[in-house]
Amino acid sequence: MKQHYSLPVRLCHWATLFLVAVQLSAVMLNKLVYDTRPILSETLVQTHISLGGLIFIVTFFRLGARIFNPAPALPSKAILRWGAIVAHASLYICLFILPVTGYLRLAALGFEVEIFGIISLPVIELNTSLAAFATRSHRICSIAFITLVSAHFAAAALHQRLDGNAVLSRMGFKRS
Ligand code: HEM
Ligand code: HEM
Repeated sequence: MKQHYSLPVRLCHWATLFLVAVQLSAVMLNKLVYDTRPILSETLVQTHISLGGLIFIVTFFRLGARIFNPAPALPSKAILRWGAIVAHASLYICLFILPVTGYLRLAALGFEVEIFGIISLPVIELNTSLAAFATRSHRICSIAFITLVSAHFAAAALHQRLDGNAVLSRMGFKRS
């Protein structure tokens, strides 16, 4: 029986956590400096955008790796198994919706969106109601995402502590 997620899935999992931590810090810091430091503010928003684009690419690759490599078995108790399936699927959905709504909130206002100055995303027609919808969706989805990640972290920590079933090692790199 498989004990770990495949190496690409594990690498993508922890890389995503790192990228999300940096890009969320950038957007939060931007709230503090937006009025006083315009150049820093622009850099922080561009960092948020480029890392968001990278998260999208990593998630795409990760899902591919996930589909082609079987995952370790989930708990046999139905409620825990379904809880994990719903939570993991919701996290994946957020990881796709956030970059898409992030792009739309800018592109629908006529901005050109670039990822690390290398990839230029398609320019679309000005559409302020689409931009408003995307902005609202981005905000709501980011709150849902942060809530889900916190619950996911709490669940992993709780299982590790209570069950002693080494749940963290399923996503870790230590060989037992
Ligand atoms: C996993 C990916 C992402 C997460 C978790 C995320 C999360 C957030 C959060 C929490 C905010 C602050 C709330 C708000 O002002 O609406 C925000 C703002 C923003 N996001 Fe994202 N975002 C992601 C990806 C992207 C991408 C790919 C883009 C653009 C292509 C983008 C564009 C923006 C913009 C323009 C803002 C407003 C920044 C400001 O003016 O303060 N986001 N995002
Ligand atoms: C950006 C933050 C995070 C995201 C988006 C995320 C997402 C996910 C997803 C989607 C899975 C299911 C794996 C799959 O089926 O491909 C997973 C599994 C897992 N995550 Fe996270 N995670 C995050 C942060 C964390 C943190 C902070 C921890 C704990 C320190 C953690 C521990 C785990 C563990 C132990 C598993 C394996 C659970 C199992 O199936 O037994 N994750 N994560």
